[in-house]
Amino acid sequence: MRVDFQSWISAHQVRFEDVLSRLLPHAEVAPQRLHEAMRYVVLDGGKRVRPLLAFAAGELAGTNEARVDVVAAAVELIHAYSLVHDDMPCMDDDVLRRGKPTCHVQYDDATALLVGDSLQALAFQLLAEHRLNDDAARQLEMIRLLAVASGSRGMAGGQAIDLASVGKYLTLPELEFMHIHKTGALIRAAVLLGAHCGSGMQGGSGLGPAQMDKLDHFGKLIGLAFQVVDDVLDCEADTATLGKTAGKDAESDKPTYVSLLGIQGARDMAHRLHREALETLTEFGETAQRLRELADFIVLRKF
Ligand code: IPE
Ligand code: IPE
Ligand code: MG
Ligand code: MG
Ligand code: MG
Repeated sequence: MRVDFQSWISAHQVRFEDVLSRLLPHAEVAPQRLHEAMRYVVLDGGKRVRPLLAFAAGELAGTNEARVDVVAAAVELIHAYSLVHDDMPCMDDDVLRRGKPTCHVQYDDATALLVGDSLQALAFQLLAEHRLNDDAARQLEMIRLLAVASGSRGMAGGQAIDLASVGKYLTLPELEFMHIHKTGALIRAAVLLGAHCGSGMQGGSGLGPAQMDKLDHFGKLIGLAFQVVDDVLDCEADTATLGKTAGKDAESDKPTYVSLLGIQGARDMAHRLHREALETLTEFGETAQRLRELADFIVLRKF
């Protein structure tokens, strides 16, 4: 029987917490302080949107859950590392994340740097250690995909543009380019990696190139929508609800969808992207229902 969306989310969040806990090094293993800090930033917090997208795409492709667990964990570890570095004094200088003191506040700057380094390395270690697809060439392509999404042509590149844009006016295409990279790239990778686990494996239906292109386009649109909503929430929501300091973008003079289009303009933009994202899923029918529900959640969320 099909469970409702909220129960599906909760079940996956609880199960995935356990997956992450097993894949992270134990806090008792040396170097203890580094391992403790890695667990501190990854466990017990976050919406887990990227893993949920990977699970939904994996379900669509008819894959086995254990394989998707690994790619979902890899993406979440990269995401957690990006947050640790994003919050450091040399970047956004934030003291609160996921309702707790940020890593460099709880530990120190050097530990925060090393936590990021270690989480990124662990993500790729997991992808290399586990069988993700029966086709080894496909597995290599999956590893490459996450590397590109994380690096200077993906998340890290978007972060560089973000920092270089403080106090500047960006045009709409420039802002879109920044958001598609700093946030969109990893979200897009989460969708694609979940679906790739299904292709060519026993019991998995496997998706053709045209269907993968459709999912890629969905990921791009919903990834951009995610950051547009993040910009809106930074203005509209309060610190307790967000679990991170509200109002930071305006305070730091960052160009955002809100600074360029106003709150209503940014909201309209998110809704337009949402509609377009849903259109890319039409041909998948019922199998894409979880992805649709996640798209709704991303645009309508309050935190
Ligand atoms: C926050 O991401 C940083 C952005 C890329 C906008 P999330 O809103 O997914 O943060 P968590 O994982 O739920 O804490
Ligand atoms: C973060 O964008 C993007 C990445 C961490 C890659 P923000 O700087 O807007 O994220 P928050 O608002 O601090 O979560
Ligand atoms: Mg930032
Ligand atoms: Mg930030
Ligand atoms: Mg933000």
